[in-house]
Amino acid sequence: MDEKRETLLRVEDLSVCFEGKNYVQAVEHIDLEVRAGDRLCIIGETGSGKSILLLAILRLLGPTAIVTGRAFYRDRALFELTEKQMDAIRGDRVSYVPQGSGNGMNPLLKVGLQVAEPLIAHRGMKRRPAMDRAVELLRRFHLGREEALARQYPFTFSGGMRQRALIAMGISAGAELLFADEPTKGLDETRVKLTAEAFNELEGQTLVCVTHDLSFARSVSSRVAVMYAANQIEAAETEELFRHPLHPYTKDMLAAMPENGLRFRPGYAPAHSEEKTEGCKYRLRCESCREKCKETPPMFDVGGHQVRCWCYE
Ligand SMILES: Nc1ncnc2c1ncn2[C@@H]1O[C@H](COP(=O)(O)OP(=O)(O)OP(=O)(O)O)[C@@H](O)[C@H]1O
Ligand code: SF4
Ligand SMILES: [Mg+2]
Repeated sequence: MDEKRETLLRVEDLSVCFEGKNYVQAVEHIDLEVRAGDRLCIIGETGSGKSILLLAILRLLGPTAIVTGRAFYRDRALFELTEKQMDAIRGDRVSYVPQGSGNGMNPLLKVGLQVAEPLIAHRGMKRRPAMDRAVELLRRFHLGREEALARQYPFTFSGGMRQRALIAMGISAGAELLFADEPTKGLDETRVKLTAEAFNELEGQTLVCVTHDLSFARSVSSRVAVMYAANQIEAAETEELFRHPLHPYTKDMLAAMPENGLRFRPGYAPAHSEEKTEGCKYRLRCESCREKCKETPPMFDVGGHQVRCWCYE
């Protein structure tokens, strides 16, 4: 069954660096494959390269970013398309809800119209049915009093409400691939749960979601990739990863989850992408470090669970 699902997104050896006063390797040699219906969450601490990875795939980085590698949406090589072709894909087939997008709505347009706009522009719907559909979408994200809210301007919404309205907008035209960057940032626990529910109710949508909310990742994803210092260091089916983490970093991170007291063990400090570590990037913080770790570990496959650590050679 798995083999039959189409591949919607394939990323091969993707790297991004910023050259300037300080050289930053933001993303390094990332490979990803996302099939129709997959729900992939990319987790990792702040600065690990999650947002830059999404922005690179969508070709939304500025000119200071040097991007190498390849990315495909279906069989289309994204880095070879013209700007116009890329715009068409971004508007129609793929939608993207950026990080911190709570403030990203047009202040001059009523919220309902903004949610309905992709339906009118990309699906040729008339305004009235598109507005009805917008209300329905807002309802999915449990904003409350949705019909009235659809007629209001964004400034009357809280940041969290705008964030959820943007997700509704992102999915309104039925794009088959949704990229969401930190969709729960700034939401209280109840709203996080409601957002998770709304994501879980999306039918036929393939999701690539970046988050550092591990509980949220666990509740909405079918697969998780872990990033550390620009590298993907582990990937597995969600429950497998949470129950049997293999990489020492993932184990440390899960042990530091809020329900475990959000405490990294003494001596732990987050890595910075400016920091140059030869060999395994986690070497200076890893309690299992050995001589071999001065060499860069490849990704090892342990029964379908991928891990970049010499312990699994
Ligand atoms: N325009 C830029 N120029 C130079 N470095 C940058 C630029 N944008 C991002 N970076 C660096 O790239 C690295 C990865 O950043 P990124 O925003 O992808 O992290 P992240 O994992 O999304 O973190 P967060 O969880 O805080 O959103 C960071 O070290 C960041 O400082
Ligand atoms: S490769 Fe070595 S340093 Fe890196 S995580 Fe594994 S044991 Fe630790
Ligand atoms: Mg980010």
